[in-house]
Amino acid sequence: MEQSQRFRASDLIQTILPVLVLATVSLRVVECKVHSSGPDALHYRAINCRKHSALLTDFGAVGDGKTLNTKAFKAAIDSLGTYASQGGAQLIVPPGKWLTGSFNLTSSHFTLFLHKDAVILASQDEAEWPLVPALPSYGRGRDGNGDGRFSSLIFGTNLTDIIITGNNGTIDGQGQYWWDKFHQGQFNYSNKIQISNLTLINSPSWFVHPTYSSDVLIHGLTILAPIDSPNTDGIDPDSCTNTRIEDCFVVSGDDCIAVKSGWDQYGIKFGMPTRHLIIRRLTCISPDSATIALGSEMSGGIQDVRAEDITAINTQSGIRIKTAIGRVAYVKDIYVRRMTLTTMKWVFWMSGSYNQHPDTNFDPKAFPEIKGINYRDIVATNVTGAARLEGIAQDHFTGICISNVTISLSKTPKELQWNCTNIAGVTSNVTPEPCHLLPKKEKVDCAFPEDRLPIEDVHLKTCCTTKTA
Ligand SMILES: *[C@@H]1O[C@H](CO)[C@@H](O)[C@H](O)[C@H]1NC(C)=O
Ligand SMILES: *[C@@H]1O[C@H](CO)[C@@H](O)[C@H](O)[C@H]1NC(C)=O
Ligand SMILES: *[C@@H]1O[C@H](CO)[C@@H](O)[C@H](O)[C@H]1NC(C)=O
Ligand SMILES: *[C@@H]1O[C@H](CO)[C@@H](O)[C@H](O)[C@H]1NC(C)=O
Ligand SMILES: *[C@@H]1O[C@H](CO)[C@@H](O)[C@H](O)[C@H]1NC(C)=O
Ligand SMILES: *[C@@H]1O[C@H](CO)[C@@H](O)[C@H](O)[C@H]1NC(C)=O
Ligand SMILES: *[C@@H]1O[C@H](CO)[C@@H](O)[C@H](O)[C@H]1NC(C)=O
Ligand SMILES: *[C@@H]1O[C@H](CO)[C@@H](O)[C@H](O)[C@H]1NC(C)=O
Repeated sequence: MEQSQRFRASDLIQTILPVLVLATVSLRVVECKVHSSGPDALHYRAINCRKHSALLTDFGAVGDGKTLNTKAFKAAIDSLGTYASQGGAQLIVPPGKWLTGSFNLTSSHFTLFLHKDAVILASQDEAEWPLVPALPSYGRGRDGNGDGRFSSLIFGTNLTDIIITGNNGTIDGQGQYWWDKFHQGQFNYSNKIQISNLTLINSPSWFVHPTYSSDVLIHGLTILAPIDSPNTDGIDPDSCTNTRIEDCFVVSGDDCIAVKSGWDQYGIKFGMPTRHLIIRRLTCISPDSATIALGSEMSGGIQDVRAEDITAINTQSGIRIKTAIGRVAYVKDIYVRRMTLTTMKWVFWMSGSYNQHPDTNFDPKAFPEIKGINYRDIVATNVTGAARLEGIAQDHFTGICISNVTISLSKTPKELQWNCTNIAGVTSNVTPEPCHLLPKKEKVDCAFPEDRLPIEDVHLKTCCTTKTA
């Protein structure tokens, strides 16, 4: 969405971390040998289990939805941080409503586990959300908030092996108040991150925002925001390598997934692409935005994105590439297959004139390279327009391949179904009839890679918590 000049709230979850204090350690999390049961038993699958564990209530937290627990979260995280090099630690958020301001995860080998009836409620007191510097690859707050931006509700940086999971427990950003202000969660410079089996609602801004990170596993998230809320992107992998996003359900006012890598000269200078990204079994509802957007901030480059088994209902577009002069870099080697789309404005959309810039110092002669874009095996119904593919006059988007696509139109379709300018590629077995810039070839199957990425071979352990003391 073009929400350029609104104040941006904080993400729900972002990564960077460090800390210590004394802990009440009464539980152990171990890899399950036998299936334990009983009211205290807890099972989940994770990249790692932890040796130490504590309850949020051990640190004085009160789950009445009114008491502010920012200090309890900080104390718990500090305390458990002392175990980072001794088998790691887990903080359990028990049933209840836990009001808190923004807090940082500060040590590696840490798990935040939410019970299914646990709700973390974001405070609406602005003093609880410190301003943090703009990301260097953006140059300024993306929120129109000058040099700074609000911290995420949960933020981490320079960490490794971080897990936020639960049995579908909830993190509620209470965005109503903040939709004019700020994001929900961010991770910066971290690797081995797992965020899974949670319900995230009403993020003030982007929900999940891994930045400058690698080996990111996002699984089983239900992400819900009103369809008219601003800036509520679901998941934004930003300058990340090796990311796997699976089995997520997103209802949002902005893009369900937005793949990014920095903005104009700041992103070019920072030079960190998003690469090796897998998206599977995504369901999206977003009437004013894309199922999967690539850009518009892509100045570090976006390469090797593999998306499959995507469902969208009442969504503006299927895949949308957004870029502009001044971005430079590239969006290339993009592979999408098996999309089922219902009630769409556009199935395919590429925009070469997404002219939002951080300032006036972008290079007006710097062109992005958009090439090697592969879409296949797509069924779309109740569609207003098949494709709007707009390259840049001096810089055509090339190597577009679209095959085995059946689009059924709505009762009031656009007259021009394929609106193509400054692009080149081929099509095969596509209806309605594509534009002449995408000539028909017999029996072409657009590419989809056969090899596996390292993030596909991450083994999940089954972790159990047992009472020991
Ligand atoms: C999420 O929960 C489902 C069951 O609802 C389970 O099958 C899956 O392994 C869990 N995944 C993770 C990564 O926690
Ligand atoms: C979290 O850490 C960042 C620096 O990495 C800092 O600017 C911010 O104030 C911290 N937030 C909280 C709530 O402590
Ligand atoms: C993320 O890391 C960069 C580079 O160190 C830093 O400039 C930025 O402030 C960090 N973000 C936050 C919110 O701390
Ligand atoms: C995090 O790592 C980055 C890159 O290695 C470094 O520039 C930055 O100073 C580190 N930040 C902190 C808070 O340790
Ligand atoms: C998790 O909770 C959300 C919201 O209540 C619900 O829509 C979703 O179906 C639940 N997911 C699972 C796997 O139980
Ligand atoms: C088809 O799309 C239109 C909007 O273009 C919507 O109003 C209508 O409800 C949709 N019909 C069906 C059957 O989904
Ligand atoms: C064409 O796409 C449909 C829908 O995804 C799929 O069921 C079918 O197998 C595909 N056909 C070929 C020849 O790949
Ligand atoms: C085709 O798309 C261009 C932008 O790429 C737009 O300016 C033009 O109005 C569109 N034409 C039609 C007939 O929709």
